[in-house]
Amino acid sequence: MFTNDLVDLIKDIYQNSEKISQLSEINVGGWVKSIRESKEIVFITLNDGSILENLQLIISRENFPQNSLLNKINFASCLLVNGKLILTPQRKQLCELLVKRIEIINSTADDYPLQKNNIPLEVVREYPHLRAKTNYFLTIFRLRHNISKAIHDFFHQENFYYVSTPIITSSDAEGAGEFFNIITNQKDPFFSKEASLTVSGQLQAEALAQGLGKVYTFSPCFRAEKSHTTRHLAEFYMIEPEMTFTNLEKVINLAERLVKYVINYVVINNIKELQFFEKFNEKKLISKLQKILTSDFRKISYDESIKILEKEKNNFVFNDIKWGIDLQSEHEKYLCQYFSNQPVFVTNYPIHLKAFYMKSNSDKKTVDCFDLLFPEIGELIGGSMREDNYEILREKALKVGLDINNLSWYLDLRRYGYAPSGGFGLGLERLIMFISGTENIRDTIAFARYAKHLEC
Ligand code: 4AD
Ligand code: MG
Repeated sequence: MFTNDLVDLIKDIYQNSEKISQLSEINVGGWVKSIRESKEIVFITLNDGSILENLQLIISRENFPQNSLLNKINFASCLLVNGKLILTPQRKQLCELLVKRIEIINSTADDYPLQKNNIPLEVVREYPHLRAKTNYFLTIFRLRHNISKAIHDFFHQENFYYVSTPIITSSDAEGAGEFFNIITNQKDPFFSKEASLTVSGQLQAEALAQGLGKVYTFSPCFRAEKSHTTRHLAEFYMIEPEMTFTNLEKVINLAERLVKYVINYVVINNIKELQFFEKFNEKKLISKLQKILTSDFRKISYDESIKILEKEKNNFVFNDIKWGIDLQSEHEKYLCQYFSNQPVFVTNYPIHLKAFYMKSNSDKKTVDCFDLLFPEIGELIGGSMREDNYEILREKALKVGLDINNLSWYLDLRRYGYAPSGGFGLGLERLIMFISGTENIRDTIAFARYAKHLEC
């Protein structure tokens, strides 16, 4: 009836409504979000994903030549619509479309599982392929897009080069044994050594930084972490900057600037999405985000954090607080609360708690590293200076049982004109959780992978 080429996006229609209202007709494609009928008029709201707002369609039964079509249009069906845009400044929405013709591209079968509005997120999680049909996930996906864009913008401005590090790797970058193996034909394996999915692009990013100076990755990472928490995924996206000629203070400052840049970007560009989440998830979401922008993130050492936690130990489930323990999520959350619910950098963790590549401090007990803890989320970022001493690095890798032959390339970087290097990893989904007030990390990514879940 009419071609796809001429279809306008609802986003453009809202942005240029005056100009578009002067045209005799326009075409719009989208999915039905609601239908309301009166004797004379059928009201349909249509959304095409381009923005949060729907377009109101007005069908006057009297002047509509396709009345027999109307009862085939149901919730979530896909339509192409032709009509005249009229401005309606007196109404809630800026404009409406007076419909002349409709093409039903595909109506929705009766067994469509998401018939109602406001279905709980846990239920929608069972239908990952249909998430893009719900307002919640449309809003999450648009926010995720904008956060990703802001991250790229930030690093471009800071003169970092975006690099791609391998997904298939032979090195367990974190030395934590949480990798997924890749198996090809067992009789005739594709690679000559064991291959796995990357847990972090850091080691390769370090190699690239030793020539490019400042680089960052934005890559999926895979960890077979069985922990069934609201903060862990088996497949997540990590942003890992790595820079040379630096020190921990500069790396920490970069992390603070990055987080503030992204939050500022969404507060300016995604206020409608944030208002949506304020209604749906967290009452004071926007003021929480604004407060982050004006706060100076606190910096405390691991030693200091243990002293703070010791005083409060009776209120923790894990209450054996002493130097050397790994901070649990309840401890991380408490530390943020302690500092007026603001982000806190904790530096200089004990060597045995952290990855082999972190630079040892002169006390030989701690490493030159930090975690950035965020209210409600816990660890958002982990970073460090990298061990620059070939021998120390080799010993540490051996101590955690890594295959040294396989890591020789990484060790050799320390012998071929090595510049002091440091960086961090930020978990994209944890940042989205914080910015949107989403409680479960599984609801920040379209197709969530976690233990026993591999749908779609
Ligand atoms: O602290 P992590 O393990 O650090 C690294 O991987 C380093 N290689 C980073 C670097 O220095 N280049 O992970 C960094 C961040 C965490 O703070 C967290 O936000 C996120 O990655 N993360 C996860 N997010 C979701 N699900 C998981 N299973 C995650 N594991 C880590
Ligand atoms: Mg960490």
